[in-house]
Amino acid sequence: MASVNVELKARDPNPEVTAARCLNLGAVSVGTLTQRDVYFRARRGRLKLRIQADEGSELIAYRRADTPEAGESAYVRAAASESVAEALDAALGTTVVVSKRRRLLIWEGVRIHLDEVDGLGGFIEFEAVLPDAGDPATARAKLARLRDELQIEDDALLSVSYADLLLDGRDALVHAASEAMENAYAPYSKFKVGAAVRGASGAIYSGANVENVAYPQGQCAEASALGALVTAGESSITAVAVVAERREVCPPCGGCRQRLSEFGNPSTPVYLGPATTTLGELLPGAFDREALA
Ligand code: THU
Repeated sequence: MASVNVELKARDPNPEVTAARCLNLGAVSVGTLTQRDVYFRARRGRLKLRIQADEGSELIAYRRADTPEAGESAYVRAAASESVAEALDAALGTTVVVSKRRRLLIWEGVRIHLDEVDGLGGFIEFEAVLPDAGDPATARAKLARLRDELQIEDDALLSVSYADLLLDGRDALVHAASEAMENAYAPYSKFKVGAAVRGASGAIYSGANVENVAYPQGQCAEASALGALVTAGESSITAVAVVAERREVCPPCGGCRQRLSEFGNPSTPVYLGPATTTLGELLPGAFDREALA
């Protein structure tokens, strides 16, 4: 592999504070990038096509050990056209797409990424490109200093990629929804539904449909899951899953699309069994707060 980085990644619930601390340290703000990474099924390591607004796309093959400590990543970059995605998808298959807005700062040769990742939230990433940031020991010392200055705690550190988080996120959410579905109370329709939402904290809340002999009093699974989220003190969602016993893909009812829209945004992913959509696709032109203004 051609190049080596030393990297560290952590959750960052407060990117504004972090950005201010970076600037205080003398980091230089380079700008904000919008990036979409399409991951393909690779035989060795990982393979992604990075598509950047206003910049060229590139194909990146890389390998990195899953460790929360500052880890080394070896990679190869190749200029590529966006249309390569179609060919790679046809030949290998796509595993996941990661979309993010990245604020880029540079401090002593270390790239600092303040990332807002669709469906996952805010993260900070350090990338010391060798040899620009010095030898490996110097690069590690710089990352340790940055970690210290930015007060990144151990439990905020992440050992896996955004792609892994999204895949895990999906599986974990669908699993939670399926478990909730088992407990559905649906003696009238016999149509059991389970829903799960991920709160901004990362926690998952699930619920099932609850019917009533006075039929209109019945409650959808999504409403139950959102009730659990709010009861736990949260008020926004980063992803949703809905499953039904008798349908592989269960489209949420109109009312639940509105309910979910209250707590998410148009790009919030919605996993309907094996299918993936977004709140925006499910409810374009939602009645939102602006409508009240
Ligand atoms: N149901 C849900 O729980 N969520 C939906 O989005 C669609 C419908 C439930 C309500 C009722 O208990 C059963 O499915 C049949 O309509």
